Order: sequence, then C-alpha cells, then structure tokens
Amino acid sequence: MEQYVIKGGKPLYGTVRVQGAKNSALPILAATLLVEGIHEIRDVPHLSDIDVMGRILKALGVRMRWDGNNIKLETSTIKTSRIPESLMRQMRSSIFLMGPMLSRLHEVIITPPGGCAIGARPIDLHLKGLSLLGAKIEEGDGFIRCTATKLRGADIHLDLPSVGATENIMMAAVRAEGITVIRNAAREPEIADLESFLNRMGADVSGAGTPTVVIRGVPRLHSVSYEVIPDRIVAGTLAAAAAMTGGEILLTHVVMDHMGSTLELLERTGAILKFEGDSLWVKGSSQLKAVGNVVTGPYPGFPTDMQPQLMALLSVTAGSSNISERIFDGRFKHVKELVRMGAKLHPLKNSVEIEGVSHLHGATVQATDLRAGAALVIAGLAAHGTTRVLGLHHIDRGYDHLDRTLLQLGGQIQRWSGKVASC
Ligand code: EPZ
Repeated sequence: MEQYVIKGGKPLYGTVRVQGAKNSALPILAATLLVEGIHEIRDVPHLSDIDVMGRILKALGVRMRWDGNNIKLETSTIKTSRIPESLMRQMRSSIFLMGPMLSRLHEVIITPPGGCAIGARPIDLHLKGLSLLGAKIEEGDGFIRCTATKLRGADIHLDLPSVGATENIMMAAVRAEGITVIRNAAREPEIADLESFLNRMGADVSGAGTPTVVIRGVPRLHSVSYEVIPDRIVAGTLAAAAAMTGGEILLTHVVMDHMGSTLELLERTGAILKFEGDSLWVKGSSQLKAVGNVVTGPYPGFPTDMQPQLMALLSVTAGSSNISERIFDGRFKHVKELVRMGAKLHPLKNSVEIEGVSHLHGATVQATDLRAGAALVIAGLAAHGTTRVLGLHHIDRGYDHLDRTLLQLGGQIQRWSGKVASC
C-alpha cells in the first residue's frame, strides 16, 4: 500500500515556492464553461481533484491540455448537460459546475453529492440560490435537474456564508437579466479570486471579500488567460511544519493578507514570522507555547482547513489548548491517529482539549481526509522515530507532491508504493 515513510526529528530548512490555490482553481476551471473560446488558467497545481475536474470537463466536451502548471481549455463545444455520476461521486467540488452550466446550457443534471469524511455536506443553499434566480429544480431518483430558459437577478440571503453556494450563485448570475445581490456571502480570498476572473472575462461583479456581493448581469463574456492566487492553506501547512520541527524556512509566492488568523496563531505558539514582499520567513521556537481556545470559523476567522495541522502543532506545546470545530461536524478523525503518536487529546462535543507533551513518537497512521493527512505528515516530521502515513490518495487531492516539497526543505520523507521506495 502506498505510504509516506518519515524519519522525524530533523528541523526543516530552506526555501520553497507555494503552489497555486486548489480552492481557486476548481471554481475558475468550472467558470470557463460560461463562454465559448480558448482559456488559459495558469499556476494550477497537479492534484487529483484537478484531474477529476479535468475529466468532467472533457466528458462534457471541453478540449484541454496541460503545459507545465498551465491549462489551456477550448470550451466551444459542450455536448451534454449531465455530469457523469462516477466523476461527481469522486469530488464534491463538481457542484461548482451547476451555475456555469445553467447559465450556458439552461440545464444541468447532477447526482446529489453525498457527505464526505469531514461531515454532512448539504447543497440546499446552492439550490435555494439557483431557484431564486429562476431555475426550476426537479429532484428525482438519484439525480437533480435544474432548468431555466432565462435567469433573472435576485436578492439572495444565505443562511450561512457558504463558500460553494456563494461561488455557484456568482457564476449563474453573471449573465442573468438584471442585478443579483448575495447577502451574508462567504468572504474567503478564493471568492475574490473568482470575482477577478469573472470580471476579466467581461462580467460586472463587486463586493467579493465583503458580506455583500453584487452581480450586474451582462449579455456577453469572452475567454481569457488568468493566474490563480497562491494556496494559503498549503502555505499555512508548511509554516506549521517549520514551527513544529523547530526549523527555519522561507516560503515564496504567498499573500500575507490571506493568512491573518493562521499567522496570528503561529506567532502565539512562539514561532517567529517575517513577511517581505510575497515571501514569508518562519522560524520555529525551541519552546512552543499553548494558545488557549481556538474556534474555526468562516473567513476571516481561523480556517477549518488548518484545524488538523494546528492540532498537531499544539500537541507538542507547553500547556493546554482547546480547538472547537464550528464548520464541519465530522472533522476530528485525525485525533485518534495523533493519539497513536503519543498526543494527549481529549475529545469533547465539538471540541478537543489538547494537553501538550514534550514530543510525539513514530507510528503507523491512516489519513482519513485531505487536511488530516497533512497534519499526520507534519507530526511525523517532528516525532521521534519513524512514522508511516497511509491513505495518500487523500493528501494528493490538495498537495502537489508534498513529499518533494518537504524533501526540498530537508525533510526525511519517502513515498513508498509498498514494494520499493520512490524518492
Ligand atoms: C469550501 O468547501 C472548501 N472547498 C473547503 O475546503 C473548506 O473547508 C470550506 O469551503 C469552508 O471553508 C473548496 O473550496 C473546493 P461551505 P464548501 O459551503 O464550499 C454548510 C479543503 O480541505 N452548507 O462553505 O463545500 C456545510 O455543510 C476543503 O480544501 C450547508 O449547510 O464549504 C458546512 O457546514 C475541505 N448548505 C458549511 O456550510 C449548503 O448548501 C460550510 O460549507 C452548503 C454548505
């Protein structure tokens, strides 16, 4: 079975460039369907989620090819409005295709994406938004069909600031008749990146990054070349790895403004951070400190996608901390794996009490989802002894060859395909 074999205890040193953002590239690739033409999306990471999005787009009729970290897409011919069930099941983010397909084809047929390892993931807010724009929603046996001869602007209040629902409604509304207002919209940096991409194509979207996004429908769009933003969660993961191993690294291609709450927490553990231009220097402290209570929340709150990595870091600090998870109801599966490595973690209802220990020890652990996997890898880098991390397919969804990045920083990590080690 594929696994990472990690020899821990060696501080990370060196410089790496942070990959482009998965959670920007996915909705932006979907948004290319809004208009016929040749698009180029640049700095797209090589991830299994991106591959699945690519296979869906090809199944719909898009011609595409990679050129390094750039993808060229030719979207003139869309031959079906049904997203293949097998591919939809592999990736929740295929839901992002609903808005663009409804706008372009006036119809989209999907398989309801079930929950995933981190909890129930309903799509009621997506459907509510699309139906307020005038879409007719039919739910049948194992499928949802949305149709709309004409989409019309609407005033849409989201019960909670869902990232996906905000993005889907933005994409459906750019060519709708009239003005759409999304209230209590998500404010993540990836929303602002999608706004920039849509406006580059000729749309008229404003307010991304605030709770109110306004979309003035336009009759025409055109294809473009666009570079996605850096991945703030990958940057946060590597910074936590440096802090946890007592290392000193330089991350290039980072946007400081996107990482506020993550950096603030790393500093509270005693790590030293310095920003210069688009580079972040991180130095771990020999005596990491506990940080008290942490609660995950919608941006600019502390990101749920950094919660497992922070828990790994806090497990080797002096003192106690507590992390409450407020976004996903099943995002603590990494707890028992970290306990295998000697962490003292006490799960409560929606939070975990963390009693810091002097060090972790190596063990064989299982990644249960993307960020949980990343947390186990950085725990393995800091632990005494050897750690084997199984379930790499989860990690490959969001990190572009994490082992190579960590090797570049002097980490002792190898990817095993079960038979021989591949470096
Ligand atoms: C996006 O997921 C990210 N994924 C997630 O990152 C991230 O954890 C999440 O936002 C929150 O920041 C991508 O961008 C591809 P939501 P999304 O809709 O859009 C509830 C990673 O590790 N909800 O903001 O699916 C939902 O159940 C991934 O990279 C409804 O109730 O998240 C959750 O509790 C994991 N009804 C909350 O809202 C809806 O219709 C936030 O979900 C939609 C969501």
